[in-house]
Amino acid sequence: MELNNTAHAPLLDIQHVTYAYPLQKTQAEKDAPSPAVLRDVSLQIRQGEYIALLGHNGSGKSTLARLCNALLLPDRGRVLVAGQDTRDATQQQAIRQQIGMVFQNPDNQIIATVVEDDAAWSLALQGFPATLIRERVDAALAAVGLEHARHQMPHQLSGGQRQRLAIAGILALRPRCIIADEATSMLDPSSRQDIVALLSRLHREFGLTIIHVTHLLEEVVQAQRIVLMEQGQIVQEGTPATIWHDIERLRALKLIIPDTFTLTTRLRAAGFPLSAEAVTIDAIEKGLIGAESNY
Ligand SMILES: Nc1ncnc2c1ncn2[C@@H]1O[C@H](COP(=O)(O)OP(=O)(O)O)[C@@H](O)[C@H]1O
Ligand SMILES: [Mg+2]
Repeated sequence: MELNNTAHAPLLDIQHVTYAYPLQKTQAEKDAPSPAVLRDVSLQIRQGEYIALLGHNGSGKSTLARLCNALLLPDRGRVLVAGQDTRDATQQQAIRQQIGMVFQNPDNQIIATVVEDDAAWSLALQGFPATLIRERVDAALAAVGLEHARHQMPHQLSGGQRQRLAIAGILALRPRCIIADEATSMLDPSSRQDIVALLSRLHREFGLTIIHVTHLLEEVVQAQRIVLMEQGQIVQEGTPATIWHDIERLRALKLIIPDTFTLTTRLRAAGFPLSAEAVTIDAIEKGLIGAESNY
């Protein structure tokens, strides 16, 4: 779903960004610049896109994610969020509200002792009227499938449910974009799939821009565009099909190739008319049944 007001400016415009973490603040080290973890990175993301930021550990994904919502500021280059520079201190709160971030560990994002209070936390802090808070929290809990748990205590929820609660807290702020930074990595396989499915649904139903940050190939098959990172730079961008095309390259970038990807590659090499995008069990099955019915 595309919104009209985005014809001019992309939601996120990352222009030639270079960033290094400050070294420990000792006088001796002050003048020596630490090595840049992001080097001349440029990327535009439109409102309503579903992007995967993919790369192995240490490639700079989390640093780039934090630059997108003014948690970090660029040393060189600039980051514009709906046209606003993240270095503009008067805009930073609004920017963080528009670009919500979900992190690895849901427990670091949960504050209150009752589910509905937790989802309401940021709104309450900003002094919104109770009726508006109630309305937004109801909608957010419904969107993540936690209405039934509203009076429970967060620690009674499963890891996957706690991560969904963290997402509800962000949704209550009505963001334009959610960045999920390895948001599934502490969860069991079925909760992982739930979170990926939820992000996909939020994209589809609400037109939310999704940036899914991960090192797992199997989590990015739903994305419209994949941005591949290596050593602080973007090394490739494209649709899943273009990215899957070169499995050896993905392997060289130290990504773990799921068995389904290998199977698709072998079946294609053996002459089965499967598309390169058919990398899930469902898609492979569909492809093969389709092929069989042609004989
Ligand atoms: N707070 C920090 N201080 C210093 N170096 C950091 C910090 N966070 C990350 N780094 C370094 O920056 C590089 C990129 O890290 P990161 O953005 O976390 O990558 P990714 O999310 O892809 O694993 C790594 O070499 C990492 O060690
Ligand atoms: Mg990371």
